[in-house]
Amino acid sequence: MERRLWLTLLITMCLFAGSTGRGLEIKQKDNSPLYNHTLATILVEYASAVYMSDLTQLFTWTCSRCDGMTTGFEVLELIVDVENCLQAFVGVADDLNAIIIAFRGTQETSVQNWIEDLFWKQLDFEYPGCTDGKVHHGFFNAYNNTIVRSGILDGVSRAKKVYGDIKIMVTGHSMGGAMAAFCGLDLSLIYGKENVSVMTFGQPRIGNAAFASYYSEIVPNTFRITHEHDLVPHLPPYYQHLPHKTYHHFPREVWLYSMGFGFLIYEVEKICDGSGEDPDCSRSVTGNSITDHLSYFGVEMGCDESSKCKIVMAPSLASYGKVDEFGNFALSRVPSKFILKSKTEEQVSDQ
Ligand SMILES: *[C@@H]1O[C@H](CO)[C@@H](O)[C@H](O)[C@H]1NC(C)=O
Ligand SMILES: *[C@@H]1O[C@H](CO)[C@@H](O)[C@H](O)[C@H]1NC(C)=O
Ligand SMILES: *[C@@H]1O[C@H](CO)[C@@H](O)[C@H](O)[C@H]1NC(C)=O
Repeated sequence: MERRLWLTLLITMCLFAGSTGRGLEIKQKDNSPLYNHTLATILVEYASAVYMSDLTQLFTWTCSRCDGMTTGFEVLELIVDVENCLQAFVGVADDLNAIIIAFRGTQETSVQNWIEDLFWKQLDFEYPGCTDGKVHHGFFNAYNNTIVRSGILDGVSRAKKVYGDIKIMVTGHSMGGAMAAFCGLDLSLIYGKENVSVMTFGQPRIGNAAFASYYSEIVPNTFRITHEHDLVPHLPPYYQHLPHKTYHHFPREVWLYSMGFGFLIYEVEKICDGSGEDPDCSRSVTGNSITDHLSYFGVEMGCDESSKCKIVMAPSLASYGKVDEFGNFALSRVPSKFILKSKTEEQVSDQ
């Protein structure tokens, strides 16, 4: 009976909160960066679009996922590492006044295999510049020691030349979230922590506790979105009793889950504590769902079709690219005159 009353109260509260737009607003006590729901629902669309395999459509931003709140986005750099099956882009979102960088997650024949593999990832690489900080070499190398890093830095510096001091937002889903984190660290050291933010979706753990605290100092404006029982954020496992061996998430988690019963289901976005491993967030449930991994804010994540690392590209696109000896390539373009023009006008009217 008591439980029922509590639930009813809660639901009433939620309905009230719902009627004013969105959110059971959970206040953040400290003065850490504020979580922005609208921004999360926009960035998730970029993290979803980067999975698309038709590079022509991606480069010209005409793919089936290149609409909604990302309409008008301009890709400046599209990086495709055929060897390691990685994909990422850099572009400018005029409405956000930001450079957006997105990394694709794994595209293996089966996400399942990749996930099983995650159980066994060792903390085997000392992160440079971070005392006692360890990460998994594979996650780090995918960003740093492939064509990805140079392509990203190239795209960002080209955008900065035109747009000056605009914000940099880095995003990615799953393995793409892991790469986004390493990229965010890298860019934060180059462009300053106040200019770089990271938002990942269904990201696995990437390093130990020392690394997590180093990370949160360098990239404080980071949100790590988790969803219901998504199992990837639970991996590689967290072993509370093996502090020197365990992986440890960096903050700040925002856990999406639904609450209520019957048709009164309410979506909650819980802003978690600053530890990175809030026991009352996704860790309060078992990670046993791939379905929850493949959907964030109702947006489909993961590959579009048969999910093999394949490339669809119109021959005319080749003129934008440079290909290395392994067949990896990056397509680049300079910012378009249209966006350039509107930007210049804005600057003029600011004065
Ligand atoms: C949240 O992000 C959106 C999109 O960038 C922006 O328009 C809005 O002003 C932000 N809200 C707050 C409270 O910062
Ligand atoms: C990361 O990549 C840069 C070149 O892009 C290289 O100079 C540096 O040594 C790499 N760092 C590590 C730890 O591998
Ligand atoms: C970071 O942003 C601030 C404020 O917009 C700006 O003054 C500063 O030059 C930026 N830092 C870099 C390295 O671009």
